[in-house]
Amino acid sequence: MTDRRKQFLKVPYGGYHNDPIPDEDPTLTHVEKGSRAGDLIRRYWQPVCLSEEVGELPHRVRAFGEDFVVFRTKDKTVGILDLHCAHRGTSLEFGMCEGDGIRCCYHGWLFGCDGRIIETPGDPPNSKLKDRLFQGAYRAKEYKGIIFGYFGPPDTVPDFPIYDSYDVDGNEMRPYSINYPCNWLQVHENVMDPAHAVFLHTRISYSHFADIWGELPDMKFQETPTGMIYVTTRRSENNVWLRSNDIILPNLAQVGHIWEDGKHSYKEFARVAITRWTLPVDNENCKIIGWRHFHEEVNPLGIGDPEKCGVESVDFVGQGGERSYEERQRVPGDYDAQVSQRPIARHGLEHLTHCDKGVVMLRRLLLREIRNLEDGGAPHTSAVSNSEGVIPTYCHDSVLHIPKREGDEDDALLDQVALTVTDIIVNGDHLGKDDRIPHVREKIKAYVATLQDIETESEPV
Ligand code: FES
Ligand SMILES: [Fe+2]
Repeated sequence: MTDRRKQFLKVPYGGYHNDPIPDEDPTLTHVEKGSRAGDLIRRYWQPVCLSEEVGELPHRVRAFGEDFVVFRTKDKTVGILDLHCAHRGTSLEFGMCEGDGIRCCYHGWLFGCDGRIIETPGDPPNSKLKDRLFQGAYRAKEYKGIIFGYFGPPDTVPDFPIYDSYDVDGNEMRPYSINYPCNWLQVHENVMDPAHAVFLHTRISYSHFADIWGELPDMKFQETPTGMIYVTTRRSENNVWLRSNDIILPNLAQVGHIWEDGKHSYKEFARVAITRWTLPVDNENCKIIGWRHFHEEVNPLGIGDPEKCGVESVDFVGQGGERSYEERQRVPGDYDAQVSQRPIARHGLEHLTHCDKGVVMLRRLLLREIRNLEDGGAPHTSAVSNSEGVIPTYCHDSVLHIPKREGDEDDALLDQVALTVTDIIVNGDHLGKDDRIPHVREKIKAYVATLQDIETESEPV
């Protein structure tokens, strides 16, 4: 994958002995057509922009190092076409949206959403040119305020995936997007790096979310039918807080309650606060596009703000580059940490440790998916759904009342809780929403009841 791995410098003041910077790992980072990761990601539906960005005027987007135009016909059908007109290359962002397509501003060619050339008005009426040519076109789907496209081979279009995290009682899904001027992988793999929450989000400047995030948790990483999760476990007096973030391969991630403090609400299986794709824009730029979820379970303290979610904006600190340079230096956030890893982080310069097990596992799974597709395998989501035809996900927070035990015994207890609760959640994934949530909650409740064997005066909070 990389030329070779960098060794530690062995002497103080030894910067002079550094080797030249090695090349990036093209297999996992490059996304242009014909690249290995790029071809993998193209096999899944990808978000390209928010619905609000496409009104009566066309909208130019870039993805995988290619340029596209997204537009609505006058009858509100959404189309995605190659940006440059098949005639002589004028950008269709300057085109006119009509009843059944978009008309190039230069010589008036009219294109349908499927790429058909409907009119070439400068040619004689009997011209057959339009019957022989197509503009590059891609399937489009608008869903809950986001426009998605399918950029893979047209004979392998997967069903548009619906994940179970969308269907939570009272859930309001607010779309948002943020551009990152760096490679997609370093932004995506951050979701499998729970240790950064201890430092970047808590100890380094101040508690971005809650003080408990600053305690280094027990960290486990587990494969799921659609990717992987981390399982972090922390003790909060007589509560145990267990959290799993989800990666759905190749480039979708889900994150739990952002301001969880392990104290204020008792919960067995609270679902998702963020569903977000990391769309590769090109090799050195990417864009987070997804939804913030707002409902009682993931926002019990009412801290989040749906009104702050939209184009280049979300409702928690450090997610974009809009703050002053000084402020970003004083209170760095995810954006600053990830963008500053270089335009494309160099794996050959890293010294990976205990903290990085999730990152290593994610890279390994991505490589496996790439090889699977290259060997003729199918994208994984086509084979995974629950009894309602919806794809199960695993992201959650659980805050459980489990009295503290003495010394090492408590560490062993936390270990056992992490494994058992995760097992219950993953094993209930075949059930539909109305069955899975009560099933998982009852099972966890029953398990927690078996652990109340220590004399204590504390009550669940
Ligand atoms: S360049 Fe588009 S119609 Fe001529
Ligand atoms: Fe973060």
